[in-house]
Amino acid sequence: MRFVVNKLKLLKPLSASCLNFGTKKGVYSVTTGIITNARPEVVKDEPRKTKETFRLPFEIIKNGRLHLHFHECNKFNGKFTKFKVLNKNFIALNSLQDVESVFNSKNGAEGRLSPFFQDYVLNNDGFAFQDFTKVCQQQKQVVRAALTYHIKTHNVLVKEEISKTLDKISVCSHEIFDSDIYIRNFLTNVFTRLLIGETLPEDHPDRNALWDLIHLLYQLMDPSIDTPLRNLPFLRFLPIKHGRLFRDAIKTRDRVSRLYFDSQKESYKDGEIRGLVDVCLKIQSNESWLTDDKIKGLMYDTVIAGMSEMMKSIRMLVLLMCHYQDTQSRVHAEIDEVIGSRNDVTATDKDKMPYTVAVIMEMLRYVSQTPLAIPHKCNNDVMLDGYVIEKNSGIFPNIWSIHHDDDVWGDPWCFRPDRFLTDEGSLLPSDHKHRRTLIPFSVGRRRCPGEDFAMSGLFIVFTKMLQKVQFLPPKNEDLPSVDPRDYNNKYPLYLPVFKCRVVPRDES
Ligand code: HEM
Repeated sequence: MRFVVNKLKLLKPLSASCLNFGTKKGVYSVTTGIITNARPEVVKDEPRKTKETFRLPFEIIKNGRLHLHFHECNKFNGKFTKFKVLNKNFIALNSLQDVESVFNSKNGAEGRLSPFFQDYVLNNDGFAFQDFTKVCQQQKQVVRAALTYHIKTHNVLVKEEISKTLDKISVCSHEIFDSDIYIRNFLTNVFTRLLIGETLPEDHPDRNALWDLIHLLYQLMDPSIDTPLRNLPFLRFLPIKHGRLFRDAIKTRDRVSRLYFDSQKESYKDGEIRGLVDVCLKIQSNESWLTDDKIKGLMYDTVIAGMSEMMKSIRMLVLLMCHYQDTQSRVHAEIDEVIGSRNDVTATDKDKMPYTVAVIMEMLRYVSQTPLAIPHKCNNDVMLDGYVIEKNSGIFPNIWSIHHDDDVWGDPWCFRPDRFLTDEGSLLPSDHKHRRTLIPFSVGRRRCPGEDFAMSGLFIVFTKMLQKVQFLPPKNEDLPSVDPRDYNNKYPLYLPVFKCRVVPRDES
């Protein structure tokens, strides 16, 4: 006997939640729509297929070109790629169907390969880089609630901060615009306000502390630094690069903690919510699991994941507009028609601006800025179409390949926002193949909790910028290539820092 439910079967049964009910094939989950708890005897009959395991040269990982390598391998590897690095098994799932099968159910594939910094810098108090324990799930819910609260207040802080940034940009009109400086500054203000409700003065000595922390943790995350530190943790005490990075990260973590947590806790008044930290302090008064360290942990995670991803997206939107002037003109035309010179951009505007939304979607597909997401870890053996994914294997959802699959997209290496529109120019329905295959935020229980924040924030930033200015290539310098295949996925190299010209719209 053989049956396939989303192609996934569990080797170890899970306990059914209250929203599950039994079927002939297993337990149907109302919440996920997935049948799990497949009967063990069914699994026993299943012939176990084996897949060739590649030994992957460490160089490829070190150079941040793993996603490009996988994409090449897919041609002969098919649905998934199995490989070994330093004796550890890894799987890259290459199709949307398999990513959904594996990640959409509680099968143990939602673990994480804990990097060195998670244990030694964040003291296992965050949730993004560790197994999905009950406390981690609760921390994630708190982050989601705080971000939703922020979006409901109409993204005031994003709107105000982008307006201030545009005022600064307009002063340097026609000049070379260093995308990095302005966007970095804008995001510092947005995330500082998100955490504590106010910005820091421009000359504050710790104004860059969040970026410093991100920069140091990404360096520690690099496999060439992480692998030796994870295997020989005493290296952190030595006067070598690894030790220096570790000590700097600890110091910077403490700077961030003093500035963003200690000062908020000292001045916290019950009933007054200034930002995410206050949301947490309020919850803390009723929930003992949410200790000070857990609050700091979720705050670091939100900042590390959120600021760096928003930076990549905004930078890439500006670079794409410099390269694709026709696309920029069409966005300008849509803004003029729907918003005109009105100051406030609202969620209702979004519904009337399908082309602008399609440009953001196409940027997320084309660039695939998190090409392999954050690697998951299998905490059980999991069967996929007769193959076993062994316990403790690392699993990558291969977002890069899914977003560049010839069969789905036809011309995946073209930047073409129209692929998300109907012939009449409206946005494709959400069940259309193109919309369903767009998964920049991954899928399942570990998917990004910042998706709504990111999508609404990007819409506001993009429309407000293009309402006021036109981005043009610099006159005497070349723009970097916009083809994402030219980049690696190492932070912060993934997208190049570049300069361009900004011309106020009324002058262009
Ligand atoms: C365009 C912007 C963004 C993209 C493309 C993006 C993408 C992703 C991806 C692919 C993951 C990994 C999911 C997985 O492991 O399966 C992730 C995780 C995460 N993201 Fe985002 N993200 C973005 C913005 C944000 C923002 C704005 C925030 C917060 C303000 C955020 C917070 C997080 C956190 C905390 C996690 C860890 C979730 C977990 O471990 O369960 N992200 N993101």
